[in-house]
Amino acid sequence: MPAVLRPACRALWAAASVLDDLADRRDVEPAEREARVEAWTQALQRDLAAGASTDPVRHALVDTALRWRLDLSSLQGAMTSTRNDARGRYFADWAEWQARCNEELVPWVDQVRQLFEQVGAPMTLRLDRRKDYEQFIDGSQLTDVLTDLSADLAQGLLLLPAEALEAFPGAEDDLRQGRWSPAAAALISDLTALARQWVTRPAMTRGMHPGAATVLNTAACLMRAQLDAVEAAGSTLLKRAPRPSLAARTRILAPARLRSAMAWSLTPLTVPGPRPPAVAASVPRPAADNTGLRPPPPHPDDARPPQIAADRMPSHVAVIMDGNGRWAEQRGLPRPEGHRAGTAAVREMVYGALEIGLRHLTLYAFSTENWKRDTEEVSTILEAIRRDLDEGPLRDLDVRQRWSGRPDELPEELVQALLREERRTRGRTGLTLTVCINYGGRDEITRTAAALVQAAQAGDVDPHLIGEDDFTRHLPHPDMPDVDLLWRTGDEQRTSNFLPWHATYAELHFTPGYWPDVDRRDLWQAITEYGRRQRRHGAVPLVSPRRPPATGHIRADFSG
Ligand code: IPE
Ligand code: IPE
Ligand code: MG
Repeated sequence: MPAVLRPACRALWAAASVLDDLADRRDVEPAEREARVEAWTQALQRDLAAGASTDPVRHALVDTALRWRLDLSSLQGAMTSTRNDARGRYFADWAEWQARCNEELVPWVDQVRQLFEQVGAPMTLRLDRRKDYEQFIDGSQLTDVLTDLSADLAQGLLLLPAEALEAFPGAEDDLRQGRWSPAAAALISDLTALARQWVTRPAMTRGMHPGAATVLNTAACLMRAQLDAVEAAGSTLLKRAPRPSLAARTRILAPARLRSAMAWSLTPLTVPGPRPPAVAASVPRPAADNTGLRPPPPHPDDARPPQIAADRMPSHVAVIMDGNGRWAEQRGLPRPEGHRAGTAAVREMVYGALEIGLRHLTLYAFSTENWKRDTEEVSTILEAIRRDLDEGPLRDLDVRQRWSGRPDELPEELVQALLREERRTRGRTGLTLTVCINYGGRDEITRTAAALVQAAQAGDVDPHLIGEDDFTRHLPHPDMPDVDLLWRTGDEQRTSNFLPWHATYAELHFTPGYWPDVDRRDLWQAITEYGRRQRRHGAVPLVSPRRPPATGHIRADFSG
């Protein structure tokens, strides 16, 4: 494991183990065990919303989830299944045994895969390898059952399907009575061979990042060594858990550590930024301190941001600021007046984002297609942006300003002003504000593809192994996270060439009002509605939405 991931993996491991122990404690009544698992799971939900816990294991998990922006909702099904284990486990056949294994284990392993993804070395599985992956996890579970046989039997447990036990008449009774009979030995030998076959999935790691592949292949080698020890144990398997010898483990681990250290040293791993605030709204931003930064000015009506639980808070909101022209036309004004009026709404968005604790806000100000407008309108738009940069209304706020788009065609003074603000604010840690000027999504993808081709020609990237992560690393802003919420004002429902790479799984939000009329309460409303959505990312939902679906476009009352 790369060192940066170890604490997070341990937190996941600890949580899974605690739940397993709570479900398995034989000295406690089944109903009570079930209640304890349920109480732990519910406490986790509360702790996640609060961002901290008094329980050390839950605290580690909450911290990990917030720091690495893990979506723990997929663990809900695994936890429910563990709770049901407290009532006893019976598997009629292998299919039932595997289904349970999938339900309980795969979501935890998937969290680890999510971590690898976040760090920039994805454990990407080819779609046709998903079965291999599930079988590998079944194999690890069967290896575990065989290893822990003596401990489980002492608790009256034999976690194997009836189908397997019945194939060796008498074996089950013998094992339960602690007799190492020929039937028992034959059953164990058969299961050991099966586990060995399941953990040996060489095609699973094909095309994967070499570090991630080493982790999985080494796990497979260790499990085979464990199975060797099970086989060699004979009757002592009923007395204690067998362990492979130190020499056998060293033979596997020493070269694997070298291989993975090499692989990780060649990959720049992304470590997450500072932990986002837990209940964002309850953490008011500090007043001006010795950094010289000040908090955003309050809303004129003293409106306050809503309380958003940390796991309901988007990391990245992107906005298509549309409707300036129509706003002006509605008032009998020339269109450029609409663009001038729109700059106040931009400030409001930044204030609202800071107040609610948003990490990334990306605003679409001028597209590569907007050059089709008449010259006067184009100059007003670009001039309004430059004036705002020079006047610096955001200068003393904790905002890291960035610009995304093509420099060619833009006036030189504007480019210089944009680069100047980027330099001046690059050390800020509050909100990252990316303004897209002369930005086009296809242009961004084309430029990224070109950069990747150059890297391949220079021998820095193997074209046969190019994956999504390589593409991300060559984007103009490789650290820009995926868009969680994409909001467009101005009563249009299209994305107009905005952030196609980042917004593939964004929740979409369209509002009828024109851009100059919006204020920070509309941003808070959009974020509140986002919090009610159930995101699936292609998976089957395991839990129903926690809140009823939103209705209408009525702006909520955020008055203080
Ligand atoms: C959005 O407002 C701002 C830019 C595209 C620069 P519009 O100017 O597109 O306003 P409408 O859509 O014509 O009302
Ligand atoms: C999208 O708005 C671009 C910006 C908001 C900067 P447009 O008004 O240009 O988009 P279309 O032409 O209606 O799709
Ligand atoms: Mg428009």
